[in-house]
Amino acid sequence: MNLILLGAPGAGKGTLASYLIEQMGVPSISTGNILREAIKNNTPLGQSAKEYMDAGKLVPDEVVIGMLKERIAKRDCKSGFILDGFPRTIPQAEALDEIAHIDCALSLEVADDVIEKRMTGRRVCLRCGATYHVEANPPRVKDVCDICGDKLVIRSDDQAEVVRHRLETYHEQTEPLKGYYEAQGKLKSIDGAQGITATEKFAVEALGL
Ligand code: AP5
Ligand code: MG
Ligand code: ZN
Repeated sequence: MNLILLGAPGAGKGTLASYLIEQMGVPSISTGNILREAIKNNTPLGQSAKEYMDAGKLVPDEVVIGMLKERIAKRDCKSGFILDGFPRTIPQAEALDEIAHIDCALSLEVADDVIEKRMTGRRVCLRCGATYHVEANPPRVKDVCDICGDKLVIRSDDQAEVVRHRLETYHEQTEPLKGYYEAQGKLKSIDGAQGITATEKFAVEALGL
């Protein structure tokens, strides 16, 4: 299955993707994680993306579309994939339709005030991309990644001011994608405001896994 996870910043796309990887046996592609890794390694891609991300704006379509095409062409995507954070604009969705058949767009519905609270407790591993929450999903050892042992950090775009900008960007540019996929008969929406386990259960039911 080729699946898109839609949802506001902090709706739980990355957290659900790490569960669905196991359930579906396909890789998940997070354009945010690819960009953060590029920034960490100070590559030309990272240098051009950093100012947009730090301001809570979208990186230009042509940059992310090229990046996604390259990733989706890799062999591990042949039997299916989960997209976390792509597409985020109508032109990105149109470009995706030209390179792959999408089976379903699953939207995680979470109100803005719940999201603002969640972001303050998020901790991430910049080496492997794993995501934690100090209360809802803590690592076994404080501030240490369970998977690779790297030190956990607060994402630079998780400051309250930037989170508000990211939410505005989401409502203006990404939320219209729900209509785009609804018109194709591919949209499914689930409540993402309950606990992590509840969200996983809703997703399994919606996807018929
Ligand atoms: P990206 O990395 O994609 O960030 P985002 O969409 O803003 O989403 P997040 O990663 O912040 O949240 P999430 O939904 O994955 O939630 P998570 O699982 O972490 O993009 C970052 C930036 O990169 C963008 O702003 C843009 O600049 C650029 N970019 C990326 N893709 C782009 C594209 N296609 N085009 C243009 N620019 C692009 O969960 C959040 C927290 O809540 C965690 O702490 C988690 O433990 C906790 N949590 C999760 N689920 C639950 C639950 N059910 N109950 C309680 N807590 C929960
Ligand atoms: Mg994420
Ligand atoms: Zn890690």
